[in-house]
Amino acid sequence: MDQEINKYLLLEQDRQNNGIELIASENYTSKEIREMCGSILTNKYAEGYPGKRYYGGCEFVDRIECIAIERACQLFGSKFANVQPHSGSQANAAAYRALLPEGGKILSLVLNDGGHLTHGSPVSFSSHLYTFVHYPLNNGHLDYDEIKRIALEEKPDLILSGYSAYPYAIDFKRFKEIADKVGAYFMVDMAHIAGLIASGAHMNPVPYADVVTSTTHKTLRGPRGGLILCNDEEIAKKINSAIFPYYQGGPLEHIIAAKAICFKEAMSNEFKEYINNVVINTKACADKLQELGANVSGTDNHLFNMNVLETYGMTGKDAQIALEEIGIATNKNMIPNDTLPPSKASGLRIGFAAVTTRGCTKAQAEEIAVIIHQYLNKSLDKEKAQALVKKLTTSWKQIQNI
Ligand SMILES: Cc1ncc(COP(=O)(O)O)c(C=O)c1O
Repeated sequence: MDQEINKYLLLEQDRQNNGIELIASENYTSKEIREMCGSILTNKYAEGYPGKRYYGGCEFVDRIECIAIERACQLFGSKFANVQPHSGSQANAAAYRALLPEGGKILSLVLNDGGHLTHGSPVSFSSHLYTFVHYPLNNGHLDYDEIKRIALEEKPDLILSGYSAYPYAIDFKRFKEIADKVGAYFMVDMAHIAGLIASGAHMNPVPYADVVTSTTHKTLRGPRGGLILCNDEEIAKKINSAIFPYYQGGPLEHIIAAKAICFKEAMSNEFKEYINNVVINTKACADKLQELGANVSGTDNHLFNMNVLETYGMTGKDAQIALEEIGIATNKNMIPNDTLPPSKASGLRIGFAAVTTRGCTKAQAEEIAVIIHQYLNKSLDKEKAQALVKKLTTSWKQIQNI
């Protein structure tokens, strides 16, 4: 091994093993998935799609990609799947391209309320190629009547649902009804909740949306990458051309093979049980923090938001840095109607997908709430907090053994 790189790989492994990972978009993959990501499939060029490649020697990667597509369709109940997007952002770019002309109007959530950069941020391609208008949250929740009112007023070409920091269940059926009323396409970016949808713990958008995009590396617990699903053959063709040759070149067949393993894992009873525990742990931690007096959102899924400015008089940035000192990873996050800029933010986003994979129990999720609360309100000193964190992380699976 290249010692210069290996040194940091081992340090990163220690960091992952010794920390409590509460970043809501992270997870730990199985050994089988990690080994497939590092397999000889990375050697193969396969521009195009199974049966229609620009290179020879694709007979076996064709089979692998077909299996990945079949499993994705089976898992989410869709007719078509594109498993080639290198990331969730690429998947979103391709979905917009397939459905809209340049400049087309997209109605998405106010970004500070929990949308992703690709949902219209000025620093993302999205706002440069398309016209965005937004719907806000009402008291932290989606307000379907207000979304309908804005849709009728703005007449968008596409309505977008699915978020990065929304802690509640989403009613995709109601979104579809609104989209139909104004003749707009309906798209869902299920990146965060894909694992919950796969296991049946959240409403599936596939029967309602024209296109569903996702990442495969968050609650779905697969390799880092993207996915696009739809039920319409014409849209599926446009999606395929938008991914290759428009936005991407050769597909990452080693990652596609790992996605296929991820889809199979997500069909198992073990995965259902895992997601069930993620939801239990997230709620247990949020409820405990609330009981201790913190200002937290509720939660129906794998994450919740905490207003640290109101609770502890500190910015999200400072709370994130403080928790990092004791080995707890979170990320600062804007809260609805935030008065601080995104670089500081008033909130923290907290999720339990990763630690639940390592074996975190409900009692331990409550214990984590106490550590966070006492450390941020300065009633627990650093050494004691670090010792409590160590006790928890050493009781869990080592990440290289998952
Ligand atoms: C809702 C949503 N969509 C898309 C993405 C982008 O995924 P990627 O980082 O793979 O581009 C994210 C990432 O956090 C996300 O939260």
